[in-house]
Amino acid sequence: MGTKARHSRFPSRKSSSSTLIFTLLIMFTFVILILLALGILSIPNNSGNSPKPNDLSSIVRNTVERGDGDEGRDEQWVEVISWEPRAYIYHNFLTKEECEYLIGLAKPHMQKSTVVDSETGKSRDSRVRTSSGTFLARGRDKIIRDIENKIASFTFIPVEHGEGLQVLHYEVGQKYESHYDYFMDEYNTKNGGQRIATVLMYLSDVEEGGETVFPAAKGNISAVPWWNELSECGKKGLSVKPKMGDALLFWSMNPDASLDPSSLHGGCPVIKGNKWSSTKWIRVNEYNV
Ligand SMILES: *[C@@H]1O[C@H](CO)[C@@H](O)[C@H](O)[C@H]1NC(C)=O
Repeated sequence: MGTKARHSRFPSRKSSSSTLIFTLLIMFTFVILILLALGILSIPNNSGNSPKPNDLSSIVRNTVERGDGDEGRDEQWVEVISWEPRAYIYHNFLTKEECEYLIGLAKPHMQKSTVVDSETGKSRDSRVRTSSGTFLARGRDKIIRDIENKIASFTFIPVEHGEGLQVLHYEVGQKYESHYDYFMDEYNTKNGGQRIATVLMYLSDVEEGGETVFPAAKGNISAVPWWNELSECGKKGLSVKPKMGDALLFWSMNPDASLDPSSLHGGCPVIKGNKWSSTKWIRVNEYNV
């Protein structure tokens, strides 16, 4: 029995040691695989392709491949221009036809722009905002609905949170001095709550001036590739040059829902040509129209 047991134990010890070797081999393979995976993941991270926050010289360009059906349309891509404030340009967001449609709708109804009085919450005339403008009701027709749906996709915020589109016209010398889009009063936040984000669409090119400027943006503002094309006013902050069809999205609130003072922005005076733009203000809650 003893011998038998010893004999029977021998092959079992042999099999357990081969199991051990097999297990070690499997583990070794896993370790190699994990190291490989980490190696592969760490290569792009270390290659310097990911820009540091506020490094305005290394603007990321994500090109969107257009389908065959969209041939003849200008290329669309989103550019991160700043993290403080969080601001993005969606190139060729609107077609030329959509831009012309919005201008055509608004033109007969333009009125001198007003600003919100921070004490009373009421609109009033002001020297800081010298443009003229009008509101287009949310969802008023198919083209407007398409644009509003596109804005919802771009911002990830439903159409119902948006105010009506405002169309603005700035002639030579007209401007909008730096301000916040969020409210300081109780009155204006009753419907929809605070303004969380703004989408500013350029409906025309501007020959000179008319930039959207963020004077409180963090980062080296002179590192933007278009620095030499900016007006004196445009050089006072991080600036975006108006280009027909482009949309600028920026957030007035941080991800933690606090107000972001770096979202301070203004419209520089138009120096040559004239500027048409359209603004969609987006609220924290649904906005009833
Ligand atoms: C800002 O960027 C410009 C252009 O890239 C560069 O010449 C300048 O040295 C930078 N300034 C600072 C303070 O980094």
